[in-house]
Amino acid sequence: GAISRHAYRPPAWLVPETRLVFDLDAAATRVTATLHVTRQHGEEPLRLDGAGQTPLAVRVDGVATDAWRIEGEQLVIPLTGTAHTVETEVEIAPERNTQLMGLYASGGILCTQCEAEGFRRITYFPDRPDVLSRYSVRLVADCARYPVLLANGDPVDAGELADGRHWAEWNDPFPKPSYLFAIVAGDLAVNRGSFTTMSGREVQLGIWVRAGDVAKTDHALHALTLSMAWDERVYGREYDLDVFNIVAVDDFNFGAMENKGLNIFNSRYILADPDTATDYDYDAIAAVVAHEYFHNWSGNRITCRDWFQLSLKEGFTVYRDQGFSADQGSAAVKRIEDVRGLRAAQFPEDAGPLAHPVRPESYIEISNFYTATIYNKGAELIRMMATILGPQAFRAGTDLYFSRFDGTAATCEDFVACMEEASGRDLGQFRLWYSQAGTPRVAASLSHQAGEGRATLRLAQHVPATPGQPDKQAMVLPLRIKLFGAETGQPLGDERLVLLDQPASTIVFDGITERPVLSVNRGFSAPVIIESDRSAADLAFLSAQDDDPFARYEAMQQLMLDTLVAATVEGRADHDAVVTAVANTLDDRALDPAFVAEAVLLPSESFIGDQLAMVDPEAIFRAREGLRRALGLRLAARWRDAYDGAPDGAYVYSPAAKGHRRLRTVALGYIAASGADDAATIAFRQFERADNMTDRQGALGTLANGYSDEREAALDIFYHRYAGNALVIDKWFQTQALSSRDDTGRLVAELARHPDFTLANPNRARSLVGAFGANQRAFNAADGSGYRFLADQLIALDRLNPQTAAKLLPPLARWRRFDAGRAALMRAELERIVAAPGLSKDVFEQATKSLG
Ligand code: ARG
Ligand code: ZN
Repeated sequence: GAISRHAYRPPAWLVPETRLVFDLDAAATRVTATLHVTRQHGEEPLRLDGAGQTPLAVRVDGVATDAWRIEGEQLVIPLTGTAHTVETEVEIAPERNTQLMGLYASGGILCTQCEAEGFRRITYFPDRPDVLSRYSVRLVADCARYPVLLANGDPVDAGELADGRHWAEWNDPFPKPSYLFAIVAGDLAVNRGSFTTMSGREVQLGIWVRAGDVAKTDHALHALTLSMAWDERVYGREYDLDVFNIVAVDDFNFGAMENKGLNIFNSRYILADPDTATDYDYDAIAAVVAHEYFHNWSGNRITCRDWFQLSLKEGFTVYRDQGFSADQGSAAVKRIEDVRGLRAAQFPEDAGPLAHPVRPESYIEISNFYTATIYNKGAELIRMMATILGPQAFRAGTDLYFSRFDGTAATCEDFVACMEEASGRDLGQFRLWYSQAGTPRVAASLSHQAGEGRATLRLAQHVPATPGQPDKQAMVLPLRIKLFGAETGQPLGDERLVLLDQPASTIVFDGITERPVLSVNRGFSAPVIIESDRSAADLAFLSAQDDDPFARYEAMQQLMLDTLVAATVEGRADHDAVVTAVANTLDDRALDPAFVAEAVLLPSESFIGDQLAMVDPEAIFRAREGLRRALGLRLAARWRDAYDGAPDGAYVYSPAAKGHRRLRTVALGYIAASGADDAATIAFRQFERADNMTDRQGALGTLANGYSDEREAALDIFYHRYAGNALVIDKWFQTQALSSRDDTGRLVAELARHPDFTLANPNRARSLVGAFGANQRAFNAADGSGYRFLADQLIALDRLNPQTAAKLLPPLARWRRFDAGRAALMRAELERIVAAPGLSKDVFEQATKSLG
């Protein structure tokens, strides 16, 4: 059944101290848990969560008892009085754990994942985030198989046993909820570093991986020290243990996990060298390392009272990692990337049957709520508060929040209240952002009264209905706005921050004699959809003149979108305005190449579809290819210049070098789109000569969209060169699954039978099935073959790993956006999924909500 936010009750029992002893073995691990429990209120029995195991023994205050019962997923022990010691013993089988929650084996390493509700698969415990306990842990394991034994907190002691086994003791002085618990045992090598905190404490850093991978951990280690320094400088947050360890494993359900003092990562967010990782991978590694590190304060020192508050830690921490990444290179390009990501994942979620508020009202399976809405829209909420309050009051608010709630389990409301208290501002209406789902739409129309020297801006907002929320109230939207003179190109006054808090409002600008052009929602100051009536000429003007780089990018995107929507609907379009604007951008020598590369990229097929009343994937594809070809042909010389103009030289990972590589591969894409005879030759030459994965994969991606012999050769060379390197073979699968070729559906079905394909590894499953679901044209093939393929894979994966299976479902949830034929085919697959025997509650929730 569903769990409701309003059903929250404080725990009847707390567990101030927990002692855990693990006798580790892949086939049978014995866990002995000693819980010091204290009653908070009422007369209730002690209820401990547990799943997938049964107690072998229960002792209360040292005495064995059988006065207990199992109710659903709980062990119920009737206790009188207010304080007891409760001991349980269980046996679990890590090597048979395919869902990768709790204690499991990944390539011979034993590791854990407890968030959100994995700890109950390890032992019996009140597995909820508002029960904070101090843990001491003893690990016992075979020396040869598991020479390294790690747990949360600081190491206490270690030693050998007579029988080829050894032990280690760890102690975590900080009370934490069970979801932050972690242990690791395995044959691991370490890359060590150290960091001296602002108060002068020395912290030992360690990144633990398989021995052969140590050389690929320098970038992650460097990112960790940068993150530690950044959090001190920007938020005044200091690290608090003597050690900070990170372990990378190959089998992991998502990106990484912030366990106290012992982060566990998907290896794709740790391992990098120029030959195997792209610039994008390097950026993502730094961002995820920072994200997990920042959780030490926003998540661990202050955690969530209940899972409805998930965005309290995730939205805030994403906002923090975005700020960190912005400070490492181009803040403008980072903002563009983040908004692109928000529009690709969160806007569709907010507009479909899986829409939910940033603070949800109910859930069946909490794992389904680790969403773009909780994470990325949540980050936008924090960003809006920072914009409304200004940097100083915002920092005063975070200081207050960190000091007041340190050591506690807090709520989103607590955070907003701190912002109010520190700033003296009323955020009453702002709270609607936490409770109302749906992306607000803002109509903006500027008129000029030349005679009076006045400009009038009319703004009107509308929040669309979402499941369970038919009627919405007006939100407060912080809109950064500026006007530019159409003739002079000069700003007409300073930027204004407009707080639109009414359904509609009119803003008057005086002293405007020249015809003004509207620049609105600069920096994407509010996560909304702007509907403006600006002409192609005005958008082209802004794309060349706006002094806010995001607004410049945005004007170009809008111009491209208007053109592509017209082309999709009418079957033909005038490409001139886009061609001219792109030419001007390419010619502007003052621009950062990384920015240029972003600005000249066309909106994705799915984003174009989001603008249309009904998605016609083939028409969108044709319209987009038509514009790509026109740009490729009409700006052929410029693309060649951009391609050849990128400086040569050995690979370095720097913002400037990254920008040049990016622009070069974007230019290659346009050369290929033009249909030039030598496109495959150029791409293949880039593929062969590249001294780095960015250029190699860039070339491979271009070739993969075509039908040349070079395509087959490159895929073959790539596969053999990286055989055995799982992260790179993932790229090989993914590149083919994203191809725009006509026969991608058939090729992907063949790849699913490739010996290297397995659903047991989440990265591999996502690289083929997840990528295919994002391939608008291939997935939405009119005969329904793409839908059937996805459903088949999802049903098969659900038997192994419900959490990762459920993540594959959202592409099917978009059925209402399509023609009746496709919608019926998608619904049929959703119904087939719901009827699958033994369906998990993860997939059940997503599929039934999608059907509506
Ligand atoms: N807290 C982790 C992070 O944001 C992710 C945990 C995801 N858990 C889940 N059940 N999906 O870094
Ligand atoms: Zn997080």
